[in-house]
Amino acid sequence: MKVDVLLGLQWGDEGKGKIVDVLTPNYQVVTRFQGGANAGHSLEFNNMKHVLHLIPSGIFHQNTKNIIGNGVVLDPVIFRQEVLEIESKFGIDVPQRLSLAKKANLILPTHKILDGAMEQSKGASKIGSTLKGIGPAYTDKAGRNALRVGDILQANFREKYETLKALHVKQLSLYNFDYQLEALEAEWFESIEFLKRFSLIDSEQVINQYIREADTKILAEGAQGSMLDIDFGSYPFVTSSNTICAGACTGMGIAPHSIGGVLGIFKAYCTRVGSGPFPTELFDETGQKLRDIGHEYGATTGRPRRCGWLDLVALKYSVMLNGVTGLIMTKADVLDSFETLKVAVAYKINGEICDYFPYDIEQEIEPVYREFKGWKCDITCKNSEADLPVELMNYIRFIESETGVPVTIVSVGPDRDATILR
Ligand code: GDP
Ligand code: IMO
Ligand code: MG
Repeated sequence: MKVDVLLGLQWGDEGKGKIVDVLTPNYQVVTRFQGGANAGHSLEFNNMKHVLHLIPSGIFHQNTKNIIGNGVVLDPVIFRQEVLEIESKFGIDVPQRLSLAKKANLILPTHKILDGAMEQSKGASKIGSTLKGIGPAYTDKAGRNALRVGDILQANFREKYETLKALHVKQLSLYNFDYQLEALEAEWFESIEFLKRFSLIDSEQVINQYIREADTKILAEGAQGSMLDIDFGSYPFVTSSNTICAGACTGMGIAPHSIGGVLGIFKAYCTRVGSGPFPTELFDETGQKLRDIGHEYGATTGRPRRCGWLDLVALKYSVMLNGVTGLIMTKADVLDSFETLKVAVAYKINGEICDYFPYDIEQEIEPVYREFKGWKCDITCKNSEADLPVELMNYIRFIESETGVPVTIVSVGPDRDATILR
């Protein structure tokens, strides 16, 4: 059957991990198709909280196959840690549930060092990268230098590694940056051996075979968010992959007509971690309140997330870029105690109203807000649409009418069970 794609519509951390976990019982296959361990996808169930970085969020369901697709940049060291943690914490046989694309690219220790060196050299204009080597790894992919997962099975793997490492060492000599490589290399090679416990597959063949099977449903799990897309995000403050729906085609080797539903996930407000423009950011106590109640601290780096009101200008742009067919709203419960809510419906730039996402969002932008009455009650215990307060329904209906897309799921807490399907 066709592939449904679940994508973040904002600047990441919309709750993709939680919702993929909730939806997984409806799917036989869950894939990741871009990004790497810069992602941090949190899941909560049975009073347990777990953060995934590379492993698809379908891993906790016994009958679901998970695939790390060719579009991912895979850090073997982080991957190994993640697998061992899941095996010891949950007793899951991970290699039995997870396969890796041979065409996925490998992150080398020197990619992470280069990430640090490049960020440091940017000074005040740094991207705020997670320093997981993502930018340098995709640079090598586009530059046709990369090592791929399938290469680890070849006799000349060490030679290929040394060639790429030598290039990186040369690049690093351009920066005034201290690094120690030896210990990292030993750990990396151990982790490369560990990868051989997994099925290393021609994932495009396998996924297209699943598409041909009438009873196999596939869910592709996006990482980051559309506003961090390398082409359409707030460039240069973006990640280095296509996070939008089109990335699912190249990141898995499937045709556009094989995409079914496009599930766009957004928070009832906005957050961003790292540098770059954020038109609705709040620097006052309201922003702090969102951060406190929403526990807005990065799942990968622990950094405080910047918080602000929902930005419909950006959301509508993301809906357009992805062809979203169904919206999912998360963290509505974080707004439970707010008297009034605001939503940016346009931007004011040099005194002119702009209702679309402009080329330059680093310029002075004043959001034009529409205010909504808050619901002022606890929605975390609600489990059906009929129980939701009228003020929240008004908020949802406004978003639906502005985007032209129905909100099909409302998430009212981090746990699997705190999910209302409409
Ligand atoms: P992802 O990267 O998109 O998977 O999102 P993250 O896991 O980085 O961040 C989302 C955070 O919000 C996590 O801590 C989730 O446990 C939490 N979360 C998800 N949905 C909800 C929700 O509806 N309400 C609340 N309060 N927290 C949520
Ligand atoms: P998930 O999948 C939020 C941000 C970083 C930085 C920029 C570039 O959990 O939503 P990179 O490490 O890719 O070089 O960082 O992108 N970023 C994320 N922000 N959630 C993420 O992933 C992110 N992955 C990268 O903070 O600003
Ligand atoms: Mg995250």
